Amino acid sequence: MGSTRGLRYGDGVLGGPQDAEQTRLAAMADVCDPTTIRVLDDLGVGPGWHALEVGAGGGSIALWLAGRVGATGHVVATDLDIDPLQRRLHAQGDRRRHTPGRGPLTVLRHDVTSDPPPEQGPFDLVHARFVLEHLPERERVLDRLVSWLRPGGTLVVESIARFPLDSCARPAFRRAMDALDTVLAATIGTDSTWARTFPTPLRARGLSEVGMTVHLPVTGGANASALCWALTLTRLRTRIVERRLAGDDVLDAALAQLADPDFADLAFATVLAWGRAPAHTTDAPGSRG
Ligand SMILES: C[S@@+](CC[C@H](N)C(=O)[O-])C[C@H]1O[C@@H](n2cnc3c(N)ncnc32)[C@H](O)[C@@H]1O
Repeated sequence: MGSTRGLRYGDGVLGGPQDAEQTRLAAMADVCDPTTIRVLDDLGVGPGWHALEVGAGGGSIALWLAGRVGATGHVVATDLDIDPLQRRLHAQGDRRRHTPGRGPLTVLRHDVTSDPPPEQGPFDLVHARFVLEHLPERERVLDRLVSWLRPGGTLVVESIARFPLDSCARPAFRRAMDALDTVLAATIGTDSTWARTFPTPLRARGLSEVGMTVHLPVTGGANASALCWALTLTRLRTRIVERRLAGDDVLDAALAQLADPDFADLAFATVLAWGRAPAHTTDAPGSRG
């Protein structure tokens, strides 16, 4: 039961090729893309930018970036698992994938915790959504992301935050979502409280023009947020029950609420924080790690 500690995101806890996982990623994008795009837009992302999308998942933001930076810019989309994005590009008939340096989008299988910096860097923009909270070495990864910025480049980090759950008045929903949070922490080391420390981790790394905002979607009315959490709960169900974090009765009740068009509550928030690298840096290609 406790022997699963030390698993990683792609070790069967989350991720993988299942249709349900692809639907989960798409629902996540439906909920969160408008806020992400608004923030990137406000930060001035535009033609000619060289951008790195870390943990791109289904690739909705990578594709938006590719459209925004245009032919004079470039986007590198990385993930441990690039199949979802490759399938999407294939479905669109896009032949530019896997052609580094040619066309606006390069898709790269890359572990952000350990692989060498993408050779297309340094970048004007580095963006990571719902990645660092799932990585126990998130502080070291943040160091890496900052080091991959060009002088004056912009970092944007988005992370889930559990605080809305703490005031939830619906016992089954709260217990199920608490169980989801606990099982992710106990298996892959997810930290849904880290985002509450923002923007300190960015300031501590010398970034300036630091800002942050919070997106708190309503989960209910059988909307995309409800679908995303229902699929996550279903994916984690066996692990939750095995660990006695919640019983089948509680999980069934929560799933029924998530499917109920009349239900509405708040699950997790998303905290978005950003900042700019110093205009002058001693960072040199080859010394970046
Ligand atoms: C919750 S999904 C978020 C996907 C996408 N960023 C989004 O917000 O729609 C997390 C993504 O991070 C990727 N990931 C997890 N660990 C990673 C690592 N060490 N290096 C690169 N990507 C990783 C997963 O494969 C998955 O696609």
